[in-house]
Amino acid sequence: MNLEKVFGGRSVLISGGCGFIGSMLARRLVGLGAKVTIIDSLIPLYGGNLKNIEDIRDRVWLNISDVRDPYAIAHIIQGQDYLFNLAGQTSHVDSMSDPFTDLNINATAQLSILEAVRKHNPSIRIVFASTRQLYGRPQYLPVDEAHPIVPVDINGIHKLAGEGYHLLYNQVYGIASSCLRLTNTYGPGMRVKDARQTFLGLWLKLVLTRQPIKVFGDGLQLRDFNYVDDVVDALLLAASRKEAVGQVMNLGSDEVINLKDLAKLLVEVNGGGDWELIAFPPERKAIDIGDYYSDWSRAKALLGWQPAIALREGLAKSLEYYRAHGSSYWGE
Ligand SMILES: NC(=O)c1ccc[n+]([C@@H]2O[C@H](COP(=O)([O-])OP(=O)(O)OC[C@H]3O[C@@H](n4cnc5c(N)ncnc54)[C@H](O)[C@@H]3O)[C@@H](O)[C@H]2O)c1
Repeated sequence: MNLEKVFGGRSVLISGGCGFIGSMLARRLVGLGAKVTIIDSLIPLYGGNLKNIEDIRDRVWLNISDVRDPYAIAHIIQGQDYLFNLAGQTSHVDSMSDPFTDLNINATAQLSILEAVRKHNPSIRIVFASTRQLYGRPQYLPVDEAHPIVPVDINGIHKLAGEGYHLLYNQVYGIASSCLRLTNTYGPGMRVKDARQTFLGLWLKLVLTRQPIKVFGDGLQLRDFNYVDDVVDALLLAASRKEAVGQVMNLGSDEVINLKDLAKLLVEVNGGGDWELIAFPPERKAIDIGDYYSDWSRAKALLGWQPAIALREGLAKSLEYYRAHGSSYWGE
């Protein structure tokens, strides 16, 4: 697929474009010749960081506003050819302590984005960043899209609603949207100052600042990971392929690893560091999903997508980035 042909000269809106995945996507789209607009609220609790778009700042339109503001959305959506809808509250623990903020961002705002699309720009092409968190505790592995949906936290419920709205607006109004259920994504630009985005971000900071990585429980929980460039590929392919319209697709990796081995690998790739097992904090244990890894064969079939970056290589690239730019992320 010639992505330059698809996106060159086209108007592309990225919600959450100052965040981890959104900024990497913005960079790729600028390189492909797209006219990129970013909408991001830059609320400090979330992953948005101007450092993420520093190198492309003069080649994107940046609109610092909130997707919960329907008037801003109604205005900004007009004239756009594509919407990559990535703005979200990502912390599972915060969704439990502050469920209404999660509701407003991950569900209500998604509905108002789609209403704005229906009224002002129904021919736009949308890709929504959904999550494997919808499945809850896996009943079998690998988890495919037919797996029961039993979220274990508020965030999973609201992301499910966000995804459902996109699919419904496709079915009922013919708005061309696709949903990708992302697994743990990592790489340069992720939030590393705490575990609000994912624990691996915090691990990168800990290993680089010579503090022990804290692995919860016995460390035997299995996970799969995608390097951010692979996720950006999937987002672009999903927006380009008509076979993907109205579809939900898992992303994932065949490189399945338990968290203890991941900690060891990170220390090894870093060339030093420590890790330790600690008891699960109760608020995390209550919403832990146990082992998870994806069956991502539908994304392979519909998008021709497969991850290209091995974990070892992705960790090395991530460490290299934060070794150079860490202070812009952990603020010291
Ligand atoms: N990173 C992962 O491992 C992962 C896994 C599954 C799903 N996802 C989904 O992918 C999307 C992007 O995640 P990310 O990892 O890049 O997170 P991120 O926090 O870095 O990016 C989200 C962006 O959305 C912005 N945002 C949050 N609330 C907003 C609001 N009300 N108005 C405008 N902007 C707002 C934030 O400032 C941030 O820049 C999210 O929707 C997330 O649920 C990510």
